[in-house]
Amino acid sequence: MSDVLLTVRDLRAGYNDTEVLKGVSLTANRGEKIVIVGPSGSGKSTLLKCIPLLIKPWAGEIILEGTIVTHEPDNLRKIRSKIGFVFQQYTLFPHMTLLRNVALPLEISKGIQRREAEQKALSVLTRLGLGGLASKYPLELSGGQQQRGAIARALAIDPVLLLLDEPTSALDPELRYEVVETLYEIAKEGRSMMIVTHEIDFAEAAADRVVFIDDGIIVEEGDARQVLEHPKKDRTERFLRRLRAGMRK
Ligand SMILES: Nc1ncnc2c1ncn2[C@@H]1O[C@H](COP(=O)(O)OP(=O)(O)O)[C@@H](O)[C@H]1O
Ligand SMILES: [Mg+2]
Repeated sequence: MSDVLLTVRDLRAGYNDTEVLKGVSLTANRGEKIVIVGPSGSGKSTLLKCIPLLIKPWAGEIILEGTIVTHEPDNLRKIRSKIGFVFQQYTLFPHMTLLRNVALPLEISKGIQRREAEQKALSVLTRLGLGGLASKYPLELSGGQQQRGAIARALAIDPVLLLLDEPTSALDPELRYEVVETLYEIAKEGRSMMIVTHEIDFAEAAADRVVFIDDGIIVEEGDARQVLEHPKKDRTERFLRRLRAGMRK
């Protein structure tokens, strides 16, 4: 198989009459860890949501492992079962235990029997240090534990691509650390990831590539260190400076 996992080509998307993504092109190689940064409202979440077609693009192409996702409405389920998604807010089902939350996508999208799905779910939870919490309900867990649970759920299906949308930003600062630690763990496993985050330390240490998006276009992208330490564009430089000063919002 080729090294290219995902190609996004001239993607345009928006809401009602407002264009948000104004022609975004991006390639992700297998095993690559891409961090996406950019101001609030610049279209980062819209971009991530377009990849599994949670939002239908207006124009452009998304190609995952050679399949043109945007041309395959009938294969959506199969395509989505290859992509793990972690949203900003915790999204575990409140009426199910952590174990059931993680096992469910294995049963639904992979058709695995309940017993085997739960065994697999438990092994993923254990790997992320959550094994002891498997029988708890989401509301019995801290925000950080819930978000790690959501990461476990996304990983359980063994996705070819893991998308994470600001997984730490809804958490109190003292709870972010444990989620960032989990991100480091996953990054080490060599899984292909695309993550919107402003955890700049994580980006510096773990990302292969950084993409800076502003007002619906990619302003700059490149080697993570290069972009973070020596951005070429003034807009990137200004944004990073504000980010480091903690004044993003
Ligand atoms: N469901 C929606 N309906 C209408 N407008 C939306 C919706 N979601 C996002 N937007 C708008 O699209 C723009 C980009 O949003 P988003 O992709 O969430 O940006 P980011 O994730 O970079 O903060 C913003 O102006 C936002 O208000
Ligand atoms: Mg967002």
